[in-house]
Amino acid sequence: MVETIQWTDDGVVMIDQTRLPREEVYVTCRTYGEVAEAIRSMVIRGAPAIGVAAAMGVALGVLRSTDRFEEICDTLARTRPTAVNLFWAIGRMKKLYESLQGQPIEQIRARLVAEAQQIRLEDIAINEAIGRNGAELVPDGKTILTHCNAGALATAGYGTALGVVRAAIASGKRVDVFADETRPFLQGARLTVWELQQDNIAATLITDNMAGHFLKSGRIGCVVVGADRIAANGDVANKVGTYSVAVLAKENGVPFFVAAPISTLDLTLASGDEIPIEQRAAAEVTHVFGVPIAPDATRVENPAFDVTPNRYVTAIITERGVARAPYSESLRAL
Ligand code: MRU
Repeated sequence: MVETIQWTDDGVVMIDQTRLPREEVYVTCRTYGEVAEAIRSMVIRGAPAIGVAAAMGVALGVLRSTDRFEEICDTLARTRPTAVNLFWAIGRMKKLYESLQGQPIEQIRARLVAEAQQIRLEDIAINEAIGRNGAELVPDGKTILTHCNAGALATAGYGTALGVVRAAIASGKRVDVFADETRPFLQGARLTVWELQQDNIAATLITDNMAGHFLKSGRIGCVVVGADRIAANGDVANKVGTYSVAVLAKENGVPFFVAAPISTLDLTLASGDEIPIEQRAAAEVTHVFGVPIAPDATRVENPAFDVTPNRYVTAIITERGVARAPYSESLRAL
């Protein structure tokens, strides 16, 4: 399976997700500022993956710069606002740093580097557990529809939504995947299809506006998506377009599953209305691979995420088990 992100003696090495699937290029971030820029420009993306990147960024900052710890953390926290895993990972590094005050700097550095590597390893194990919990819910002999990329590339490895697919196949279920192309950044077309092909998992690419057609056709056994932040009431922020898929799934009686680690829960927010939604550059909408597809000076909106109300979510699959409505009780219990 693909290596999304790794700690090396040179720095933090990531596969450049802006260049997939045409080129498999690895970039090395040698400063925490470079890690922050890689997150902002989506060289690395996906909620758990940017959490791991941020943790490694903090470690790199303490190891190689003389900047204040707060400044390092703030720079990384300012990169992208929606995925709560980013803030969760920075928070975990902060807590460790504070607990080590008074110890020699060499020891603090070593512990922070070890912690960042530990977060990466834990993420893979968590995704495998999510996969096992989710595999039982997937109907045999049917197609799984997914949106965006919630695979190995969006995590330290194995994936959340695609982890469920991998585990279902490993358990003997015969499933294939329909991937929404996921305009405007095309994570489905560029990343999900590429990643599934690497593992010889049957994948079919559809454009986002075809999802309703296929959900009505009876071919889709369930929808499985990832999440960037889940509020206490079970409202789910995920890649823009997820909400439409969820509504269409419910309309057609198709189960809609969200696969995410506990670190994606934000129980401090009562509902999804409070989740900050990242607005990205207009050029992502007006251009495709640098080629303009709209008249010059076209007005654009480009929210990167939407919020699916909890009533459309059949279940939330985590490493600790499967939560169902009422989510305000089941998520807290996990
Ligand atoms: O903008 P992106 O590519 O970072 O958005 C990614 C998603 O929306 C994923 O579905 C989500 O982060 C879950 S990844 C396991």
